[in-house]
Amino acid sequence: MQEHQTIYFKDYTPSPYTVDTCLLEFIIEESSTRVENIMEIRRQNCDAKELRLDGEMFDLELIWVDDVLLDETMVRLEKNAIYIPLDRDYARIRVINRIYPDENTALEGLYRSGGIWCTQNEPEGFRRITYFIDRPDVMTKFTTKIIANREKCPVLLSNGNLRGTAILENGKHLALWEDPIPKPSYLFALVAGDLGSISDTYTTMSGKNIDLAIYCDHGNEDKCHHAMRSLKKSMEWDEYTYGREYDLEVYNIVAVDSFNMGAMENKGLNIFNSHYVLANEETATDNDFMGIESVIAHEYFHNWTGNRITCRNWFELTLKEGLTVFRDQCFSADMNSPLTQRLDDVRALRERQFVEDAGPTAHPIKPDHYMEINNFYTATVYEKGAEVIRMMHTVLGTERFRRAMDLYFDTFDGEAVGTEEFLWAMQSESVIDLSQFKRWYSQERTPTLNISSEYSQDSLELVLRIVQKIPKNTQNQEQLPYTLPLKIALLSESGEEFDLITSDCILLHGNTLWITDEVSEVRFSAISSAPKLSLNRHFSAPVIIECETIDYPFLMAHDSDGFVRYEAANRFGIETLEAMMAGSEVSERYIESYGALLRDTSMDPMFKSQVLEFPSITTLMQRQEMIDVPSIVNAQEKLKQILAQRYFSEFKHTIETLYAPSNTDIDGLSIANRALKNRLLGILMSLGDVSISRLCESHYYEALSMSDRLSALELLENYAPELAQGALADFYTRYSNQTLVMNKYFAVRASSRREGTLERVIALQEDFAYDVKVPNLVRSLIGSFARNPVAFYDESGEGFAFVADKVIEIDAFNPQIASGLVGAFKNYGRLSIPQKAQMGGALEQIKNHPNLSNNVYEIVSKILEVS
Ligand code: BES
Ligand code: ZN
Repeated sequence: MQEHQTIYFKDYTPSPYTVDTCLLEFIIEESSTRVENIMEIRRQNCDAKELRLDGEMFDLELIWVDDVLLDETMVRLEKNAIYIPLDRDYARIRVINRIYPDENTALEGLYRSGGIWCTQNEPEGFRRITYFIDRPDVMTKFTTKIIANREKCPVLLSNGNLRGTAILENGKHLALWEDPIPKPSYLFALVAGDLGSISDTYTTMSGKNIDLAIYCDHGNEDKCHHAMRSLKKSMEWDEYTYGREYDLEVYNIVAVDSFNMGAMENKGLNIFNSHYVLANEETATDNDFMGIESVIAHEYFHNWTGNRITCRNWFELTLKEGLTVFRDQCFSADMNSPLTQRLDDVRALRERQFVEDAGPTAHPIKPDHYMEINNFYTATVYEKGAEVIRMMHTVLGTERFRRAMDLYFDTFDGEAVGTEEFLWAMQSESVIDLSQFKRWYSQERTPTLNISSEYSQDSLELVLRIVQKIPKNTQNQEQLPYTLPLKIALLSESGEEFDLITSDCILLHGNTLWITDEVSEVRFSAISSAPKLSLNRHFSAPVIIECETIDYPFLMAHDSDGFVRYEAANRFGIETLEAMMAGSEVSERYIESYGALLRDTSMDPMFKSQVLEFPSITTLMQRQEMIDVPSIVNAQEKLKQILAQRYFSEFKHTIETLYAPSNTDIDGLSIANRALKNRLLGILMSLGDVSISRLCESHYYEALSMSDRLSALELLENYAPELAQGALADFYTRYSNQTLVMNKYFAVRASSRREGTLERVIALQEDFAYDVKVPNLVRSLIGSFARNPVAFYDESGEGFAFVADKVIEIDAFNPQIASGLVGAFKNYGRLSIPQKAQMGGALEQIKNHPNLSNNVYEIVSKILEVS
C-alpha cells in the first residue's frame, strides 16, 4: 500500500533558506531537455543546518555547492527531494539535470503540447523542472536562457523582459529573458516552438509603452483578436478601478491545446488553454467570447493580486483566487451587464459551490489541511472566496473598499502573505468590526437564514425574525453563526420601497442589515401597510433563504432588484416542479406569472432569457433526499410542454421576431436576442411537434453564429433524433479539423438525454478527432457524460462503472484530470439502495486500484468516508 500524507496548516513554518536569484539555462533537444540551474541561496533561520530542495521526475547529472562537486555520500537523495548539509548564510548551488518533456503526460512542469514546449508550474510543477525550494513564500529573481533549434523553435519565451538573442552554431539560437521582479517558482514559465502571433501595444496611465503579443498555432492568428481586445480592456480597467498599471515591458500570452486548467498567470507570460484564447464568429459561441474576456482579465488581474502580492502557502490560495475572481466578476459586470453578470455568477455559485459545500468534499475557503493541493482549486476557494470579498465590498462601500485595497497593495507589495493580512487592510478602512466575519474563512457549508415576519396594523411596525441555521461541518462538529450583510427592501403593494427605520440592528447604506447574531429580531417603524419582503437583494450574502411569506408572483412582476425578481421566478419554478414531482397539478398562478414575464416587453432580452430559465436538474437533485433523476426530468419536460401549449403563439412569434440568421455580431443586444430565442425554442421543442423540429433544423443550417447552430444541434439531439442524424454528420464534416469545435461536438453527444448515450460515448472514444491525452477532449466527452444526470445515473449502473474505468485509466498518466472526474460520484450518500450498491462498487474499484495518485485517493476516500 502507498502512503497518502496529509499536510496541515498548523505545521506551516517559514522556509529556513530562500533563493535570491536563479539563473536557468535550458537546452531543448528533440528527446530531452538539459537544465542548468544556478541559485544564490540565503539562510533565513540561523539554526538551519540542512537545505532541502524539492525535485522529482528528472535525472540529476551534477550538483555543486560553491564550486564543490557533490557525490552521493555528501547528500541525501530521496524520491522527491535532495538534502544538502549547509551550515552557512550564503551559498551558490549549481545543478545540472535532464528532463523528458515528451514523456510528461501529467502536464505539470515542462511538457509538450502539439509540438510546443510549454510549462505549468502552479502549484508544485517547478520541482519537475529542477531542484528548487518550490513553495510560494520563496521569492526569487529569475533569469532564463533558452537554447533550441532555430527551425523547430523560432519562438523562445520566458518571464520578464527580453535581454538578448543570438544565433549559435548547429542551427541553434538562444534567447535571454530577465525578470526583474522577484516571484515564486510557481510563476516561472517557458515556451519554445514554432508559433504564429499577433501583436499590439498598450500605453499605461503613466505613459509606458508595453508590447503585447498573443501566440498560437500558425493559421489561428485571426482568432486571437478578441483576446487581444480583452487584454487591453483589462489593463485599462485595472488602472481606472484600482489605479494599478502593468510593470514589465512585455506581456505575452500563449495558447496551447493540451492544458489541465483554463489558464495560468505566469509573470509576463500567461499560458492559456486555447479554448480561452481562440475565437471567431464561426467557431465560438457567445459564451465562449464572454469566457475569453473574463479569463484574459482574470489572469491579467493576478499580476497585482497573486504575482506582486502572492500567497504565503497554498492554504492561502483564496487570497489570490477569491480576490481575483471577485475582480474579474466586477470587470465583466462593467464590460457587459451588471445584472446579467450577477445572475450568472450566482447561478454558478449555487450549482457548483453550494453543491460542493453540501457534499463529502466540503472545505472552508481557507482549508486547514490537504492531501493534494491540486484538489483545492475548487468552487469553494474560488467562487465562495469571491463572495466573501464581495461581502466586505458591500460592507465597506466602493470608496472605502478601494482605500483598503490601496493599503493592501502599498503595504504588502513584493511579499507573500495570507488572508489575515488582507483582512487587516480591510479592517483598517472599515467602521464595522470584522473579527467575527473571519469565520467565513474557517467554516464549511452554506448557512440558511430562516426569516419570518410579523406586521402590526396598529403600531405600523414590521418585525423580521432572522435565524441563522448553521450546519455541522464534515467532521460533524457544531459551527458558529456568521456576521453578514443582508440587503433587503420592504415593498408596498405598488412596489415602492418603505424607508427602513430601525434601532435593533446596524443598517448599512440605508438598505443592508448587518446581521451579527444567531437570532435577530429587527423592528421597522412607520410601515404604513403590510409590506412584501424583498430579501437578500443582489444576493448580498451567499446563504440559502428560507421564508414562507414570500409573494413570488408579486416579486416577479414588481421588484426593482433584478436578482430578487429572478430569484422569485426561480423559486416559484422549483416549488412548482417539486409539487408536480409529488403528484400535484401545475399551479395556474405559476403558468400565469410565467406568461406575464414572457409578455413583458419592457424587459431586457438577456434578463428575460435568464428569468425564463427553468431550475436546473442539478438544483432539484440538490434538494432531494434521495436522488431520483427521472422524476425531475419528467416534471421538467411536462412543465415545458404545458407552457409551450399555453403560450404557443407568443413563443413562436417571439422566436420569429428575434431570429436573425446572418447576424454574428457579439454586441450585447445580438447576444441577448440569441439567448432568448434559443431559450424559447428549447421550450417549444419539448412538444415534439414536427413543424417546430423543422424550424429548429433550419436554424441549425441557416444561422451563421455558432451559438445558434450549436443550440439548435443540442435541441435536435435531445428532441428530434431523426433530424439530429443529418445535423450531427454535417457538424462533424464542417469542423472535424478544428479541435475546439470538436469539443462541442463530443459534449453534445455525451450530454444527450436520449437512450443509448453510453454506447455512443464508448464508440466515440475511437473517433479520429478524440484523444484521451488531451484534457479538453476528455472533459468534453467523458466529463460531459459524467455530468449528464440522465445517462450517468442510469439504473443499469453502467454509467458509474464506465466513469470509474476512465478515472483509473486516466489517473495513470494525468492525475489532475482523473481527480476532476471523480467528483461525479459526490452524491453517493444520497442514492437508492440498488444505485448505492452500484456506485459503491465503482468507488471501491477505484480506491483499491494499486498506485492510485494522491489526487484521486483523497477525493474517493472522502466520498466513501461520509456515506
Ligand atoms: N492560477 C490559476 C491556474 C491554476 C489552477 C494553476 C489550478 C494550477 C492549478 C488561474 O489563475 C485560474 O484561476 N484559472 C482558472 C480560470 C479562471 C478564470 C477562474 C482555470 O484555469 O480554471
Ligand atoms: Zn486565478
